[in-house]
Amino acid sequence: MWVDLRSDTLTKPTPAMRMAMANAEVGDDVFGEDPTVNRLESRVAERLGKEFALFVPSGTMANQVAIRLLTAPGDEVLMHHDAHPFHYEAGGAAVISGVTLRLLGGQRGHLGVDEVRAAVRQPNVHHAPATLLSVENTANRGGGAVISAAHCAQLCVVAHEAGLRTHLDGARLWNAHVQSGTPLATLAAGFDVVNVCMSKGLGAPVGSLLAGPRALAERARRVRKMLGGGMRQVGVLAAAAEYAFDHHVERLADDHARALRLWEALRDVGYAVEGAPDTNILYMRLPEAPAFAQRLAAAGVGAIALAHDRLRFVTHLDITDEGLTHTIGVLQALATPGSR
Ligand SMILES: Cc1ncc(COP(=O)(O)O)c(C=O)c1O
Repeated sequence: MWVDLRSDTLTKPTPAMRMAMANAEVGDDVFGEDPTVNRLESRVAERLGKEFALFVPSGTMANQVAIRLLTAPGDEVLMHHDAHPFHYEAGGAAVISGVTLRLLGGQRGHLGVDEVRAAVRQPNVHHAPATLLSVENTANRGGGAVISAAHCAQLCVVAHEAGLRTHLDGARLWNAHVQSGTPLATLAAGFDVVNVCMSKGLGAPVGSLLAGPRALAERARRVRKMLGGGMRQVGVLAAAAEYAFDHHVERLADDHARALRLWEALRDVGYAVEGAPDTNILYMRLPEAPAFAQRLAAAGVGAIALAHDRLRFVTHLDITDEGLTHTIGVLQALATPGSR
């Protein structure tokens, strides 16, 4: 048995999703003529409480378009030191937008309101002016932590008062919504732009949407084109995303319950688990995590070492209760004295 908990990006399209893809009406989306893309964009924009949404190939492109839209070269972007654009986007913000990233602290991916306030400096010829605050919800490297709507609202008020614009990297905003019961539009409310991913826990093979005010729509399309993200008969992919949007959001609660079950089992065996998961991501600390991940893989369990001493497990659409039972059994066996 192979149970792959390395990432929620590993999900494969379900048979029903493949049917939706096969039956999708398509057109040339660079011409704005793909009816399935157009429908998906307007439905997602509406759920997020924004005026427009743009379908892009990846969460990385969505983040990069957002940063490019809301900054000028030489500006500074404030974000948590665990944020995705800093760790995993190949330095794109520097290359594409010419900005510097100012990294701030905070427990489990939570940016502190006071810390953001303190990071905004008075205008001075020596400084790169901070023009954008970027917040990640849920916080991936923060253990899938949900940042509450109230906390996001406070961050946005502080940023806007200081003249910054605001971006929400909501790759897993669906998880925050399901866990907290807060409407997506409420979670997105204070942010100028927000992106969501369809290819993480929702199970679509590809695709993200960037949403915001109508005034930014044309520039967003142009930046997407500049980055090579203008796609043609892409309704086949939008159909997968729309299927996920309609059928795979509420079921994220199952992933959260399984992550908690795994966390409890690891804790009971004596592994150094980090805080109980809010959603579908959990971490544990152990020496030589990459070697341990290899031993897990040999026993049929995929986990990922995100540092030499930190291992991540992520539950998702393709993880069953049976798979979880297998995983727990393997981890219990590897925890016996002398086997770690
Ligand atoms: C929080 C967050 N933002 C953005 C991304 C980028 O998404 P993609 O892999 O589609 O480029 C990821 C990917 O896992 C992520 O976890």
